[in-house]
Amino acid sequence: MTIPLRKKILTVAACAIAVSAGLVLPLASQPRSLTPKPSAAPRINGPTIYGCRPGAPFAYTIPATGERPMEFSATGLPSGLMLDPKTGRISGAMAIKGTYAVKLRAKNELGVAEKTFRIVVGDQIALTPPMGWSSWYMAYTNISDKMIRAQAEAMASSGLIDHGYTYVNIDDGWNVKLDSKDPVIGGQPRDAAGNLVGNKNFPDMKALCDAVHGLGLKIGIYISPGPGTCAGYAGSYEHVEQDARQFAAWGFDFLKYDWCTYSQVAIDKTVPSLQLPYISMRSALDKVGRDIVYNLCQYGMGNVWEWGREVGGNYWRTTDDLGIQPEDKSLWTSMSRIGFAQAGKEKFSGPGGWNDPDNILVGSILWNDKLVPTPLTPDEQYTYLSLWALLDAPLIFGGDMTKLDDFTLGLLGNDEVIEVNQDALGKQAVPVAKLNDCEVWAKDMEDGSKAVGLFNRSKSVTTVTARWEDLGITGKWKVRDAWRQYDWGVFENWFTQKVNRHGAVLLRLFPVVEPKRK
Ligand code: GLA
Repeated sequence: MTIPLRKKILTVAACAIAVSAGLVLPLASQPRSLTPKPSAAPRINGPTIYGCRPGAPFAYTIPATGERPMEFSATGLPSGLMLDPKTGRISGAMAIKGTYAVKLRAKNELGVAEKTFRIVVGDQIALTPPMGWSSWYMAYTNISDKMIRAQAEAMASSGLIDHGYTYVNIDDGWNVKLDSKDPVIGGQPRDAAGNLVGNKNFPDMKALCDAVHGLGLKIGIYISPGPGTCAGYAGSYEHVEQDARQFAAWGFDFLKYDWCTYSQVAIDKTVPSLQLPYISMRSALDKVGRDIVYNLCQYGMGNVWEWGREVGGNYWRTTDDLGIQPEDKSLWTSMSRIGFAQAGKEKFSGPGGWNDPDNILVGSILWNDKLVPTPLTPDEQYTYLSLWALLDAPLIFGGDMTKLDDFTLGLLGNDEVIEVNQDALGKQAVPVAKLNDCEVWAKDMEDGSKAVGLFNRSKSVTTVTARWEDLGITGKWKVRDAWRQYDWGVFENWFTQKVNRHGAVLLRLFPVVEPKRK
């Protein structure tokens, strides 16, 4: 490949400066997207591995950017699965456990893209962190069938689906509010047979699930094991098996199980008591014959990360709600406090079970009860996404998908950043160096490369250096900027950059293999 002259000069100059001072990059304090626009030629995004259980309905939409029409094909697809060549949706079911290496292909007028994709039929799902959206931080309980459909349609039409966003998750407020006199949300929470019903804003849960599936997406639901949810809507208490069956019959693919009022019925807060409701819903879900991602939400009580996997969770909230805590003065304080505090929890995270520092509050979110642009600066938003990618956190967008601007789309839809998060090895990053308010975090990737985050939590622009010694590497490494999707060149010993106040730089380091001497 020939490098354009201008780029060549820049690369050489960058290398030269790197040995003496910090590289000077265009700063990101303006809401200017660093993410290059996706190419019109096909690119297959998303993970390289996907897990499902034998016998469960299989549904996977190949996430691919590039101009439509696009034609999809696959070789090595196991029997039981079918691919729709127009939409790229794979469906069916597989009876036998095993790992199947499939070659996915996407073709349009401008070219062809290929990707090796492993389908693992076994006991585990969520082999990479789930990606999607949740209604909570953009609407609280002000949700309806119509609104969820509009959000799902926007996930597809905005192109987020092409970057791997999949789950459209309904949070609190979809069913009957206990003791409410409001004719829309009040009433009997269950029918004569004891089955849960949606409130009048959700007249037909099955039709809603079908509509979301019809877009090539998946859909999530929310409830508490207690008598009521955190916002006072009906819970699953004494109806656990029946509710699990109902969720599966409606067609849900995800369940957020939120402790809330379970405190009223829990014996105490010892670990076995904290585990009890989660074990009982797990065993109920195991009987429904559907792959349902199981999200434990109990705010980190009893160090849930130490046992979330054992009780069958696919991810567990490690903290209280990120949407600002009383001790925090701003969303930046709350996000950075929670995000950087994930250090030390890395050994509990991995394929099938992930630490969850909560949703991503960017784009248009509810703030002081108004739908407004996130109070985070562009640099703070780069820190958010860079950190969540490195942490292998579920990438659950909390903003309004019908109001996505270019900046937010670039922030959520940078495929090289997402690749860090979706890596098949599933190794959560660890901090490797800290100096004053600056930190370097690193994560091993399956291909032998490293993802490295340079973070500046201070109030002014600061030079942050990734030293090979801290990263446990030696020799020459190619350094690539994941946000800008740009190669800085080959470096030895260290790589240093100026990082904005509250900003981040996300790098990929690839080993340079020297040709052997004769
Ligand atoms: C709790 C959870 C939030 C949200 C609300 C809904 O606070 O932690 O994520 O689900 O309940 O009421």
